Amino acid sequence: MKINRVYFKCISCGKEYDINEVRYRCDCGDLLDVVYEFDTSSIDPEYWKKVFRERRLTNNKYDLSGVWRYREFLQFIDIEKDLDKIVTMPEGNTNVFDAPKSAKYAGLNRLFLKHQGLNPTGSFKDNGMTTGTTMAKKLGFNRVACASTGNTSASMSAYASRAGMLPIVFIPGGKQIAYGKLSQALDYGALTLRINGDFDDAMKLVERVSVELGIYLLNSINPFRLEGQKTIIIELLDQLDWNVPDYIVVPGGNLGNNSSFGKALQELYNLGFIDKLPKVVVVQAEGANPLYRYFQEGKKEFKPVKAYTRATAIKIGNPVSWKKSVRTIEFTNGIVEQVTEEEIAFAKAIIGRDGIGCEPASATTVAGIKKLVEKGIIDKDAFVVGILTGNLLKDPDYTVEFHTNNFYIHSYYEKNYVIREGKIDTSKMANQPVDVEANIESIKKVIYEYEKKFLG
Ligand SMILES: Cc1ncc(COP(=O)(O)O)c(C=O)c1O
Ligand SMILES: [Zn+2]
Repeated sequence: MKINRVYFKCISCGKEYDINEVRYRCDCGDLLDVVYEFDTSSIDPEYWKKVFRERRLTNNKYDLSGVWRYREFLQFIDIEKDLDKIVTMPEGNTNVFDAPKSAKYAGLNRLFLKHQGLNPTGSFKDNGMTTGTTMAKKLGFNRVACASTGNTSASMSAYASRAGMLPIVFIPGGKQIAYGKLSQALDYGALTLRINGDFDDAMKLVERVSVELGIYLLNSINPFRLEGQKTIIIELLDQLDWNVPDYIVVPGGNLGNNSSFGKALQELYNLGFIDKLPKVVVVQAEGANPLYRYFQEGKKEFKPVKAYTRATAIKIGNPVSWKKSVRTIEFTNGIVEQVTEEEIAFAKAIIGRDGIGCEPASATTVAGIKKLVEKGIIDKDAFVVGILTGNLLKDPDYTVEFHTNNFYIHSYYEKNYVIREGKIDTSKMANQPVDVEANIESIKKVIYEYEKKFLG
């Protein structure tokens, strides 16, 4: 797949820049796309589909990566000469599960869940961090930075450390970051800066500090992050033998991921790899729903919100990539939905019962699908794929509180005290640990009773 040219292009004014220039925004202030000018006369999609499939059978480390296997879509490096610059774990290769219990719960005949939480550091961020850190290396940086509610910091820290770069992470203070993730950043050797503020404050600071100190910024404002995340869609379609779903459903926080999905679909469609488009559905938490509101209010003005949700990964009120996200929704004729904290919590428990499990933000997918089926927007026979973005083990407190019927909609720290408000009754799904006397008879009794309930 030859390209004639690759360049940055502003999503608003169309101004073009060299991709080797370190910049995250256009002079007009808006976001940049990486644009490839493919030599379309030389592209045979069926040939390339076979190549991608064959690469799965090799032990070449770039082919083993579920990102770089599709490197023809990532030609911001010279994929013939510069392969040695690639920083890979390898990532991607995440399963597409069928999820019968989640399907039934959502009112569908079948449902597939692609689990990006099975990536090396436990989230879809690895798909974008392999490309982001590769670009950092190509540009000669030895320090990289990001603001994060957890997953980005863990991912960037691992990839940067592997590439010999210093990771610097800005995280919100007051225990707003799940311990599973903080532990990763610390273990992978990141300089971890706890900011007295929320994610949106951390984001503003990291942008300024990166520019002033010449540190490479690896939040999703960085267009090379989104390039890697495109491969979530390319790999999914490869796994589905290029049968295009009716709907692809994904959580929305900073809105980078769905933006990359839209870009992948556009490139695949333009090059003839697919001849129809899935509708991309973005699901936000009710307390962090600026994109949902924007669409509800007739796309007049994008208004940031003060975000609150226990799904910390999507607790973002002023999403950087909202314009790219609007483009995805419009291009795919997609939908934006919102779900409550209670809906997220129960959907997460159902995904667990399918033996899959995920972090709270990811469960917005099944909660959103259920809502859209109930509204009659998604048909029960539709071909639907939900993208689970992060791993169950990120936030064990959330899961244990749910299963011990000790779950509150509001749970946050104020001056080191936990404030909890809005208890919801989770007893109908809770799977409590059982205290039992240390003797065989008592244990047998508990097992028989549980078995009756379980087999139902
Ligand atoms: C697990 C998880 N889900 C969803 C999101 C939201 O993705 P995006 O910010 O690209 O909308 C994030 C982002 O941090 C995340 O970590
Ligand atoms: Zn511009």
